[in-house]
Amino acid sequence: MIGENAALASLPTSEASPAGAWIERVAGIGVGEFVARYRLPRRPVILTDALRDWPAVGRYTHAWFRREHGDLPVKVRGRDYRLAEIIDQQIASTAERPGPYPCTLAACTELLPDIPRFAYALPNRHTHPLVPKFPFEWVNHLEIFFGGPGGEFPRIHWDYLRMHAWIAQVCGAKEFTLFEPGQEHLLYVDPAKPWLSLAEPSPDAAERFPLLHQARRHTVTVRAGEALFLPCGTWHTARCLDLNITVAFDQLESSNWAGFVREAVAAERRSGRRGRALWLGAYLRALGPVLEVCERFGANRRADWGLRQR
Ligand SMILES: [Fe+2]
Repeated sequence: MIGENAALASLPTSEASPAGAWIERVAGIGVGEFVARYRLPRRPVILTDALRDWPAVGRYTHAWFRREHGDLPVKVRGRDYRLAEIIDQQIASTAERPGPYPCTLAACTELLPDIPRFAYALPNRHTHPLVPKFPFEWVNHLEIFFGGPGGEFPRIHWDYLRMHAWIAQVCGAKEFTLFEPGQEHLLYVDPAKPWLSLAEPSPDAAERFPLLHQARRHTVTVRAGEALFLPCGTWHTARCLDLNITVAFDQLESSNWAGFVREAVAAERRSGRRGRALWLGAYLRALGPVLEVCERFGANRRADWGLRQR
């Protein structure tokens, strides 16, 4: 997950719309209601009680990770660290002098019981044996993000392969800026990487990206115990408000399958593998209805992620 923020303050901005109008905060809704109100219409939402059964909430803190998992290797912006080193720098982090970010840990086996995939995020197709793994070569389906004040990723984007993104906040608070759909003409989309905007913070950003201020956006804060649902293709950015830990994971199911297929095929073409793009597209388009039938009989509902330790 990468993420508008303080750095984008140097980009042209528009008046932020009141968050309540577009991004609701709800609790106690059933899965059917979630699907009908949010997943199918592709409306972002914050589910304030989605993590009520997660042992991670309350237990996961920077101090706990430092004590229990401080020796785990992590990579931040291409450099190798021990998790404890990053945690120390993030504890000392300020908005003016932020620590290294983003720092992500691919969730290891012993952490998985603390963060079970909840029912709103099912079904999920990644682990089905008929779904090929190679389109996900550059994707971590489940990551734990560590951040400190000022940590941010100043790049507008949507999550790769048009997967839905789930942001589960287990500690601290994170601010997200979400752009309403259908505004690609204002966002300076990178033609080579169509999930990324070219708009980067710089002193001359207002001259370089003059249309950006017209884009309608909404800023929300996700707090510990809450989960933000970002439907596939939602342009967004994120910023750490304090010392915080986020579990981020994706979801592939019937309503974003067609978009995933288009993106997976386009990625093959961009890599020059035209033959593989052709058969992959044909195979995945045929597979979609098969998986839908399987899901009617309970397939793709593994709350334990179906992941193995790397
Ligand atoms: Fe993201």
